[in-house]
Amino acid sequence: MIPLTPLEILVDNDCGIDLPLPDDLKTLYGRLQFPPFGGRPQVISNFVTTLDGVVSLGVDGKSNGDEISGSNRHDSMVMALLRAAADAVLIGAGTLRQSPHHVWTPEFVFPSLEGSYRTLRARMGKQKPPMCVVVSAGGTLDLALPVFTAGKAPVAIITTAIGEKEIRKESVPPAVQVIPAGDRETLTIGEILDALLRLLPGGNIFLVEGGPHLIGQFFDQGELDELFLTLSPRIAGRDSHSQRLGLVAGRVFLPERLLTGRLNGLRKSESHLFLRYAFKGG
Ligand SMILES: NC(=O)c1ccc[n+]([C@@H]2O[C@H](COP(=O)([O-])OP(=O)(O)OC[C@H]3O[C@@H](n4cnc5c(N)ncnc54)[C@H](OP(=O)(O)O)[C@@H]3O)[C@@H](O)[C@H]2O)c1
Repeated sequence: MIPLTPLEILVDNDCGIDLPLPDDLKTLYGRLQFPPFGGRPQVISNFVTTLDGVVSLGVDGKSNGDEISGSNRHDSMVMALLRAAADAVLIGAGTLRQSPHHVWTPEFVFPSLEGSYRTLRARMGKQKPPMCVVVSAGGTLDLALPVFTAGKAPVAIITTAIGEKEIRKESVPPAVQVIPAGDRETLTIGEILDALLRLLPGGNIFLVEGGPHLIGQFFDQGELDELFLTLSPRIAGRDSHSQRLGLVAGRVFLPERLLTGRLNGLRKSESHLFLRYAFKGG
């Protein structure tokens, strides 16, 4: 396979402390900085959208990020890098249902750099792969999927009291932690983050990989620090028959409350752009 070329760095604002990237990752990505660890964890997100803002084609078997990015290898490398830096990778149950065979580890999306991602984690003092955390209200989940059974990473389900009952109707694989985090129909983002902090008390970086319904609530409740967004040079289109989700679903921000990000980074590989926006702080 042709080796990846380094991303071209167009904007790279000072964001704090350099993560201890091994040389090959540093050459490919450049420096990756976060505010000094020790306070509340950084909540970041990573998505890929088309030029017209579509994140999912809404076509069975063709609704994940690969279709959007065109299986772009730089996008996979960045996705894996962010996973490698994170203590937890959070996904909504909808994303799991559309990618049932996925496992949310760095090496699953970029196997050839597995050793370097491991080195980064070891240098950050992280002994295990990032925990995959599935968020579900109703608890209707297929517990036989690889994310729950393959043993590639610690895994937890954060759910409601009703969701927990539903999950426990099936036999729960021993490695899966089921965490009831609230008594109402759905959880608040505060409840989800509190549960995450109980699971990972020393956690520094929580990565939310979507989908649009879950991330919409993080935006709405002001709990997202930064968005890493790959802009793919594709146009997907929408019409009244096809449900094609944009970055945010289930939430609408009024004209006087449109959220505004601050550009912290811009990298490029051919026609793909890799954006980093801050939504909190400063
Ligand atoms: N292009 C990209 O970068 C990207 C990234 C991620 C996902 N996607 C795509 O986006 C699509 C899925 O997105 P989606 O918006 O439909 O689904 P989603 O946000 O992944 O999941 C929604 C589900 O998560 C659970 N959930 C969300 N908020 C909750 C809360 N506050 N409390 C409790 N449970 C909560 C519920 O699960 P229950 O139904 O179990 O109650 C809900 O139905 C897929 O096609 C996926 O491939 C694309």
